[in-house]
Amino acid sequence: MSALRKLARTTWLGRILLLPFRLKLALGETLPAVGRALVWTLTSREHHNFTYELEPTNVRYLTAFVAVVTGQSHATIERYVREIAEDAELSAHIISASQRSEERYVNDPVAHYGRRIGWYAMVRASKPKLCVETGTDKGLGTCVIAAALRRNAQEGFPGQVLGMDLNPNAGFLLQPPYSEFGRLVPGDSHASIRALTGPVDFFIHDSDHTPEHEAGEFDLIEPKLSPRALLLSDNAEVTDKLLLHALKTGREFLFFTEKPAGHWARDCGIGVAFRPTK
Ligand SMILES: C[S@@+](CC[C@H](N)C(=O)[O-])C[C@H]1O[C@@H](n2cnc3c(N)ncnc32)[C@H](O)[C@@H]1O
Repeated sequence: MSALRKLARTTWLGRILLLPFRLKLALGETLPAVGRALVWTLTSREHHNFTYELEPTNVRYLTAFVAVVTGQSHATIERYVREIAEDAELSAHIISASQRSEERYVNDPVAHYGRRIGWYAMVRASKPKLCVETGTDKGLGTCVIAAALRRNAQEGFPGQVLGMDLNPNAGFLLQPPYSEFGRLVPGDSHASIRALTGPVDFFIHDSDHTPEHEAGEFDLIEPKLSPRALLLSDNAEVTDKLLLHALKTGREFLFFTEKPAGHWARDCGIGVAFRPTK
């Protein structure tokens, strides 16, 4: 060990000598994110529920995650992930419905699905008859699920998605042909779940992320779930309510963290409670 390095590692002076090195390490990680935030501020129109692609390795991790949750082979899930990535009709639909919407000035006319490709692959793999998404916003997730249900129907496995949202104008992306596979249910999600008759095979919480509201949704949906239902929490990094629900009901729980490509957003993810098929 050089004398200088020894001095740095073994005396109080080391803390001072290492400051520039440590600052360089920290800024090397954080400054690129600040740069991405500045570019995004000037180029995007979005102010909530941000859209982006995922980094390629992150997509591969999501593929492996969905394979575990659904009990399907990695190759099958890879095929579903490729299917949505190559679905030109869906992306053209999202772009054109965004451009025609009243909210076009605060939405980016792009078809970037982020972690919703995991929702797509789960719906393709598990062939649900009834899906529920609480919190639809524009309806991007609802359309992604409807696109998966459309392919399932072509293969002989029909299904529907219900998109529940407080905002009566939510879900404007859900238009033909995707609206054939789903319906919007305006109102508070607790009231809408109470009014629902099951069985529900695929449930996503993505509405009010307060712990009380999220836990309330899981309690209300539980008696209406089919035995093998998949239960998701989008933004499961916000509360641990799905993990607690999984423990309470004897399900397994996994969490996937997404890594957006070229975007400042970080740490969002999908929590899933499930009963292993094998
Ligand atoms: C994060 S966004 C949903 C994003 C959407 N799932 C997607 O894939 O883009 C949250 C939505 O939840 C809705 N929301 C908030 N509280 C709610 C409640 N109590 N019941 C139903 N919807 C609610 C909001 O109006 C908002 O549109």
